[in-house]
Amino acid sequence: MGSAGASPQTAVVGAVIFLGAPGAGKGTQAKRMVERYGIPQISTGDILREHVTRETALGMQAKAIMDRGELVSDKIVCDMVASRLSNPDCERGFILDGFPRTVDQATWLDGLLAEKSYEGKQLAPVVVEFQVSYNKLMQRLTGRRTCPDDGSIYNVHSQPPRVADTCDLCGAKLFTRKDDSDEAISVRLKSYEQQTAPLADYYRKKGSLHVINGEQDANAITQAVIKTIEQR
Ligand code: AP5
Ligand code: MG
Repeated sequence: MGSAGASPQTAVVGAVIFLGAPGAGKGTQAKRMVERYGIPQISTGDILREHVTRETALGMQAKAIMDRGELVSDKIVCDMVASRLSNPDCERGFILDGFPRTVDQATWLDGLLAEKSYEGKQLAPVVVEFQVSYNKLMQRLTGRRTCPDDGSIYNVHSQPPRVADTCDLCGAKLFTRKDDSDEAISVRLKSYEQQTAPLADYYRKKGSLHVINGEQDANAITQAVIKTIEQR
């Protein structure tokens, strides 16, 4: 991190990019980093789902594509990210969850981050890839339940809520994401292999890739992510 010895809540963290297949645990870990560092989670999937819920023009355009499990256009997501990163809450850093997802998105992001400083400091991004096997991804995606109000993520197998189908934090009724159907999962995993997996090599060549075994217990993964960020 940028300021040695600073408390996590005031430290300069810079850009942290979470790579990983659908269900790899990006959202789960991003929420824990938000708590530790007080920097925002920027999930392009969450932003798009908000547009769908609010029935904006962008949401209407994206809905069918997302429900099928395909990727939304680079132009749409890059514009969304540019606008989100200009928000003052990104000053000390941010977690990018689910972006970039294509080589074109990654090269666009490189250009944007090259111009960016964090409280006056220049920091290269830290890229963390969560690796999880196909069978585990399937189990995680089919068992996932999400809170519509606060975004908390549960799993009926591995991280069940205290009361079935009910958010521990706010009591809302949990829902299953539309794209967690068998058909959409298979399209998402294919699109990951073809369009997103090559990004690991892209960042490895730049020397910024850190691979974490995403099959461990969620707390062990959190410790590994913190170590990676703080040893930068
Ligand atoms: P998005 O919302 O980003 O979905 P995704 O990448 O498919 O990833 P997920 O959210 O499904 O998984 P996750 O890694 O966050 O896992 P989670 O923590 O929830 O994107 C959705 C759609 O939006 C895309 O298909 C596309 O259409 C569009 N889109 C978004 N970004 C785009 C972009 N950049 N370009 C173009 N289109 C874009 O965990 C999964 C489950 O596992 C949960 O139930 C959780 O409780 C459980 N779990 C987590 N960690 C563990 C653990 N360690 N052990 C056991 N269980 C665990
Ligand atoms: Mg997610």
